[in-house]
Amino acid sequence: MFDDLKRKITTILDQKETSTDLRLQQVCELLRNTVPHYDWVGFYFKNGNKNELKLGPYAGQPTEHTIIPFGKGICGQVAISNENFVVPDVKAQDNYIACSLTVKSEIVVPLFLKGENIGQIDIDSNTLNAFSHEDERFLEFVNREVAKTLH
Ligand code: SME
Repeated sequence: MFDDLKRKITTILDQKETSTDLRLQQVCELLRNTVPHYDWVGFYFKNGNKNELKLGPYAGQPTEHTIIPFGKGICGQVAISNENFVVPDVKAQDNYIACSLTVKSEIVVPLFLKGENIGQIDIDSNTLNAFSHEDERFLEFVNREVAKTLH
């Protein structure tokens, strides 16, 4: 599944005539519609020179968490740690921002542009312990491809 998805993602991101936001939107929708355990897929980016994240394109239920200060929630922690954060059970996390009561696990993978952590992809699952190393490697690929379209 991931190999096929990788090809489709590269094709989407290669559409030079399409705005970056629309390309990222298409990536979110493709991932959410194709991977059974991806229930909410979105990108957050550093908001200008502020120490906060701003919600970018996403697919799934609207969230009220469109701005997340660095350090807050799983996303805010990844903005500082520069490392993937896999949460098998969101109920076991103290520093967690709930977007929907149906969410049971989450993965956040930072997105680097020229070595700088400029944002992240965030995925929520309604399944407990949904994410594996395979998801991490795949989402690192997605973020590398996205970074190529951003520079
Ligand atoms: N759960 C995230 C907030 C973003 S929503 O999942 C869309 C967090 O704890 O940072």
